[in-house]
Amino acid sequence: MKRVNARDILKKYRNDEKIVSLSLYDSWMASLADQSETDILLVGDSLGMTVLGYDSTVPVTMDDCLRHAAAVVRGSQKALVIGDLPFASYSTFEDAMKNSARFLQEAGAGGVKLEGGKAVAPIVEKLVQNGVPVMGHIGILPQSFKNDGYRVKGKSKSEAVQLIEDAKRLEAAGAFSIVLEGVASDVAKIVTDEISIPTIGIGAGVGCSGQIQVAHDILGLIEGFQPKHAKQFANLAETIKNAFLSYSKDISNGSFPGDENTF
Ligand code: KIV
Repeated sequence: MKRVNARDILKKYRNDEKIVSLSLYDSWMASLADQSETDILLVGDSLGMTVLGYDSTVPVTMDDCLRHAAAVVRGSQKALVIGDLPFASYSTFEDAMKNSARFLQEAGAGGVKLEGGKAVAPIVEKLVQNGVPVMGHIGILPQSFKNDGYRVKGKSKSEAVQLIEDAKRLEAAGAFSIVLEGVASDVAKIVTDEISIPTIGIGAGVGCSGQIQVAHDILGLIEGFQPKHAKQFANLAETIKNAFLSYSKDISNGSFPGDENTF
């Protein structure tokens, strides 16, 4: 089966079809999403919080991301897999190229994502020139939360102007799409209309060219955590907890393992 590539994403965008993306980190979930009409599987550095137990994305390393990206590639056959360059892994072009090459060569990913607008555009341009498909990411930048927090962006005129300029610079640098995270929906729509590559929104409204969510958020996998931008399509934390409880009870009362589980 032919894998989706960055050009296919652009083709879908030009056909006015919405781009469906999920952030996830392991082979079994990748396989399920791949069978469910998902165009892009991002191996986001959000894995720091969802899987590794950190309270931000900052501690996540290139080795963490690579291991998970390789798992997602192994678990999927069709979707475009994007590796998220973690904190401080693309501060210079040399670092960005070395780490992007690791995603493409060692994990088998089809491209990389990095956070930032015009400040990182020169690095994006060189990556693209060197054969790396790049997804941009503006709005809330979780890797910079120590500077800027997790504020929704685009509420003031100056922020709106900045977002539009950032998006245009990333487009000119050759990015094939741009994540808009936590952006006022009217501004996200303007950004989307101002550029000719797809915007992939998370907390940026319905006017984007596609959407991305963290799989754990839409599946209700993290107990007590329900971000406003994520619709909960299942409550797996509850389902899993009930299953674990039944398992525990069945062991305690001697009904597991039963005859059918015994050799
Ligand atoms: O790390 C991540 O999962 C992301 C998406 C939320 C866009 O950056």
